[in-house]
Amino acid sequence: MLESIIKRVLVSEEEIKSIVCRLGQEITRDYADKNLVIVSVLKGSVMFTVDLAKQINTVCEMEFVRTYSYGNGTESTGKVQMLVDFDRPDFAECDFLVIEDIVDSGNTLKYLVEHLLAKGAKSVKTCTLLDKPSRRKVDFNPDYVGTVIPDEFVFGYGLDLFEKYRDIPYVAVVSPEYLESRNL
Ligand code: PRP
Repeated sequence: MLESIIKRVLVSEEEIKSIVCRLGQEITRDYADKNLVIVSVLKGSVMFTVDLAKQINTVCEMEFVRTYSYGNGTESTGKVQMLVDFDRPDFAECDFLVIEDIVDSGNTLKYLVEHLLAKGAKSVKTCTLLDKPSRRKVDFNPDYVGTVIPDEFVFGYGLDLFEKYRDIPYVAVVSPEYLESRNL
């Protein structure tokens, strides 16, 4: 069943491990003297956040947010809503690093950076496993990028296909037959 949905594996388990290891080292180095607070954007970034956090070898805290901007379609509506937020008394002392699975239009991360800065964050940077710059709708570039990918419909390793398959351990491209069967 899964085989018929996959056109090809885009980022393998081994490649993900190597990316996570590299990013973990970069973040460890850059945040050694900072007050790192990781902000995981649910649901898509959960796998990446957990694996990356284990490779960050400096003291950090973790927070979670959940946003919504896609409605039922595949195009961002451009309007980001905060479904789950967090609060804390020490925003001015926190160096936030927002963790995403993918940057597409850029709306979500641009919104979250502005949101955290408006709350008084000391600093805000962003990290994404996948970057699709060809889809950008707003002027935004993540600070840490796992890998740049082409404009193809991908799923797995946190990214869903109609809410399923977030649990597969690699990132795959959806087959055209499956997309046609769903009228996409
Ligand atoms: C996806 C992804 C990012 C966002 C990126 O989340 O996880 O949060 O879209 O797209 P953008 O750059 O166009 O804003 P989605 O809203 O599908 O929710 P999910 O993580 O719960 O699947």
